[in-house]
Amino acid sequence: MIGVFDSGSGGLTVLKALVEALPDESFLYLGDHARAPYGERDNADIVAYTTEAVDFLMRSGCRLVVIACNTAASVALRTIQQNWLPAHYPRNRVLGVLVPMVEALAGVPWHREEPHEDDVLRYARVVLFGTTKTIESRAYLEEVNKRAPGCAIVQQACPNLAGMIEEGAPERVLLDVIETWVAAALDGHRGFAPDAAVLGCTHYPLVRHLFARGLPEGTHILSQPDLIAEALTDYLRRRPDFAEPGQGSVRYLTTGDPAHLRGLAVFMTVLHGQFQQVRLSDR
Ligand code: DGL
Repeated sequence: MIGVFDSGSGGLTVLKALVEALPDESFLYLGDHARAPYGERDNADIVAYTTEAVDFLMRSGCRLVVIACNTAASVALRTIQQNWLPAHYPRNRVLGVLVPMVEALAGVPWHREEPHEDDVLRYARVVLFGTTKTIESRAYLEEVNKRAPGCAIVQQACPNLAGMIEEGAPERVLLDVIETWVAAALDGHRGFAPDAAVLGCTHYPLVRHLFARGLPEGTHILSQPDLIAEALTDYLRRRPDFAEPGQGSVRYLTTGDPAHLRGLAVFMTVLHGQFQQVRLSDR
């Protein structure tokens, strides 16, 4: 069983792509709705909450956990992989969402940390949208720049956009704020159209059409859920010991109130399931 964690419902966009790519695998989804959004929280809280969630999923039988949340992955993944996991579950693995996106932007595999002379620049100008914490972490920026220094990324925080999407804010309200952030990001490239846009938050694919309205025609909007699904498929091919092909079941857990979530989750994902409430800690 593969665990998929997000701060709320946004990770369902990733889960949907994973289920489509790996229909025989079983997934256990956990959304920390009770403490979402994470995007404006302290780093220490994000690390503590994400660690609790990963621990919960591993205690529930997941040997492999995908942190589908960009905020959690940008802020907490390294600490979890380097410190917590070896001490608690040395045989298990935690994967994040940054690696596939960095590889797609830089055009080189993750292990190639240095640029090569003969590398071909895939994207010269990129705009990256994310939560305040994802942007502050500079994780995407630094990892892409190491591998593809010619790739100019303008980062744009979209404070509380994930929360507004989660709460079902009307489209015209979302369009207003998204247009402002898109315009600010375009200014950062001083009038040159970006080659690619990254919607670096699991909630944003749900309003991809609104981002597309503000972006110049021809800007390639990279699909993070598809990239993660491709990366996980490839990972399981290389590490078949983590694959458990079977009936292909999906279970949904939340720290929030399932009665409140069901409608939103169905609206978002078209996955047919019911959330079950779980408790991670007393925080
Ligand atoms: N799902 C999270 C992400 O991908 C953001 C939502 C939040 O702020 O909790 O960044």
